Order: sequence, then C-alpha cells, then structure tokens
Amino acid sequence: MSLRDTHVQPVVKAVVPAAGLGTRFLPATKATPKEMLPVVDKPAIQYVVEEAASAGLTDVLMITGRNKRALEDHFDRAHELESLLQEKGDTAKLELVRKSSCLATVHYARQQNPKGLGHAVLCAEAHVGDQPFAVLLGDDLIDPRDPLLARMIEIRQQLGGSVVALMPVPDDRIHLYGAAAVQPSPAGDDVRRLTALVEKPAPGSAPSNLAVIGRYLLDPEIFAVLRETPPGRGGEIQLTDALHTLASHDSHGPVHGVVFEGRRYDTGDRGDYLRAQVQLAVEHPELGPAFSNWLRTYATAL
Ligand code: G1P
Repeated sequence: MSLRDTHVQPVVKAVVPAAGLGTRFLPATKATPKEMLPVVDKPAIQYVVEEAASAGLTDVLMITGRNKRALEDHFDRAHELESLLQEKGDTAKLELVRKSSCLATVHYARQQNPKGLGHAVLCAEAHVGDQPFAVLLGDDLIDPRDPLLARMIEIRQQLGGSVVALMPVPDDRIHLYGAAAVQPSPAGDDVRRLTALVEKPAPGSAPSNLAVIGRYLLDPEIFAVLRETPPGRGGEIQLTDALHTLASHDSHGPVHGVVFEGRRYDTGDRGDYLRAQVQLAVEHPELGPAFSNWLRTYATAL
C-alpha cells in the first residue's frame, strides 16, 4: 500500500478544536474553558472524547490556546484525589475520576492566533501527517446511541475522499451553519455527494437546508488546500471553504455527506446549552426519572 492510498488507511486520529475564547458564555468562561462547562454531570469535552474513543479514534489531538490548562488536567491522572478515594473505599467515584484519563491518548497543540476553524485544523498537520483523520467540534454533542462517526468511517472506506455529517435544519436556521449543495449517491439513502459548500449563507441564499454539523472525516489533502485558502466569512480561514474546493474540483475530493437523523444536542450558545442540559438530564439513566417528574410539574405550573 502506498502512503497515498489513504482511503484504505484506517482512521485512528481525532482532532478537537478547543482554542475558542467562549465569549458567548461570559462571565462563566472568564477563568474556565468553555469546553469544561458541565453538561449534566460531565464536562462537555468529555462527551466528545468518549464519542471519538467509541469509534476507535483513541489518538486525540486538542487544539488549545491560553487558559486551557484545565483540559489537560481533566484528561490526566489525579493521583492525590485517586489515593484519597481509594483509602475511603469509594470505588464508584474512583472509577469516575479515572475514566477521563483512560479514554484515549490525548495530545495538545496550541493555536497561537485565532484565525478560524480552518487554521485550527492546519495546526494539526504535524501530528496527523499523511493520514485521514476526524475533526469533532465540541459544540455538537452526538448521542452515543446513534453512532454517526462509525457510519462516516464506513462511507470513507467505500468511497475515499472526505466525509462530513449533514443534518436538515429549518430554513430560518441554515444561515448559522455551513450549507451543502448535494446530489444523491448510490452508496445509500443517507449518503449525498457534495458539489459545493457555503459557510453561513446569507438568508435566502443557501443551496439547501442541509447543514454541516460538527463531524468531519478529512483526507490529508485538506492541509495543502487549507494553506491556499484565503480568509473567508468573518475574516477567518474557514474549513468549509477548503471543503468547497475539494467538493467542486474534479482533481480533488470527493466529498460525501452522511445525513444524520439521530439525536444531537447543540451547546453552542446559552439558549442551546440550557436546552441540551434539560434534554440530557431527562435521558440520564440515574437522574432522569426523578428529574422528568419534577420537570413535568414545573412546566405545568409555568
Ligand atoms: C462551525 C462551522 C460550520 C458548521 C458548524 C457546526 O461553525 O464553521 O460550517 O456548520 O460549526 O456546528 P461555528 O458554529 O463554529 O461558527
């Protein structure tokens, strides 16, 4: 196998951009990384690393920046705390503390300038090398009961190139996302061939209501394209623009989309975050039943 036969190479590396300042959550994020805000009883970032690990991606590179040390501590051992819990015989809590340090091998690279998602992905090049890799955005939580990455990996193995996750969104929300122009694909009812992508289209101009949600499987050719991609929307180097280049030129790509119909929780802004908390609290095996009862009574009284 030559190194360029990348579509038969297994995907083992995941990249998690986590350098954002979290300004939408101030003042909560003044001294705490946004990724560490709890969603029910776990930091948001742990859901993402658990998702990567359960799809076999146990090499995780986080792209971080200033004030993100809590992330490194969370995925490291905590010997003092562990000894204390061990002495007390509190094995349940000990297991909870240890879990995040055993999920994956977590590496870190710093994004020194906040030049956008495309730039964050470029910061992963030295670690990823000439291999396909996944990118998982922390604002989108995917329910572990609806495995999306596994399906994307399957499609990449069949078709090569890059694969993104798509989800239909209402017309009045498509301007918040990357929007895809698509054609049907013989690979499956849930698969589309992308012909173009537009980052955050102006209202009324989206090519479809299929939004890119934050899961990508990228062919390493993305790095060369990203290096040539000029700043786009918001003056930032957009991953969507580089994927558009791959999707719209025959010499590159292909780019396919998997239309996801499972459960996704958006934690991107304060309103979405609150809704995700309630949804996941209702679903929680231990807290869910009592919380749902309370919620019903509370909602009736509103
Ligand atoms: C990013 C991407 C966008 C994608 C979205 C998914 O935008 O640039 O294409 O649709 O994530 O959550 P952000 O939400 O970071 O502005």
